[in-house]
Amino acid sequence: MIVEPSGASCGARISGVDLSGELSADLIADIRSTWLKHRVVAFTDQCMDDDALERFTIAMGGFGYDPFFDPIEGRKNIAAIKREADEVSPLFAENWHSDWSFLPQPPSGTCLLAIDIPPVGGDTLFSNQITAFAALPEQRKAELRRLTAIHSARRGYAPNGLYGDNDKGRSMAIRPSEAALAQQAHPLVKTHSETGEEALFCSLSYTVGIEGMSEEEALQLVMELHQWCEREEFVFRHQWEPGMLLLWDNRSVNHKATGGYEGYRRELHRTTIAA
Ligand code: SIN
Repeated sequence: MIVEPSGASCGARISGVDLSGELSADLIADIRSTWLKHRVVAFTDQCMDDDALERFTIAMGGFGYDPFFDPIEGRKNIAAIKREADEVSPLFAENWHSDWSFLPQPPSGTCLLAIDIPPVGGDTLFSNQITAFAALPEQRKAELRRLTAIHSARRGYAPNGLYGDNDKGRSMAIRPSEAALAQQAHPLVKTHSETGEEALFCSLSYTVGIEGMSEEEALQLVMELHQWCEREEFVFRHQWEPGMLLLWDNRSVNHKATGGYEGYRRELHRTTIAA
């Protein structure tokens, strides 16, 4: 396994490994430690189909629960992130978030397998929430450690949300529902369940409040953290290649999609890994 760090705050490229073949315990242990170190790992030149994607996800911890998406035909746990060449609906997932942070037990990781990659654009951006927290002044860290954030899917997936009833012409199988109104509390600074590191756990997409703060104060704080985490020193830009499998750690990075591939089709198959 050859690991080439991106040189940014997270991210590494992994070659010399075939994820369509046998996934030995040793290989999975190597992948896990590399993933925990680099937070986002891109396996190049893979020949994976949906069976291989499922096998890999199971080996990494099993499937997470994916609300608000219909799976692709014939599979229970694979969703398609896709956009047709002529699609005009707003880009999916263009705002920073950690996947399904509004669940009581958000998925530890997400896998995205390249199916149809445009020749330009469509990069995925990652922001390292551990280094972003570590770089804050000690006094600010102490204040943030005391706070509890309220997460909800309502801005995106409620019937009146971004992907709700007025979202027309989208090729992705998003299924908005009233269930998106539910709220879930998480510490604003979460301890990583495997490494013990502290990470900011909040986003403009899903953090809808802070316990003990007015809506306005909470929004101001989430906005402040959003701007801090967007700083270049915390961000890694992942560029897609055909045959890539990308794996990221939702406990240590936020991510967002980007456009720039108008006139081209883009499709990726996605699974989440249980907490
Ligand atoms: C996602 O947030 O799951 C999608 C990321 C992307 O399309 O690049």
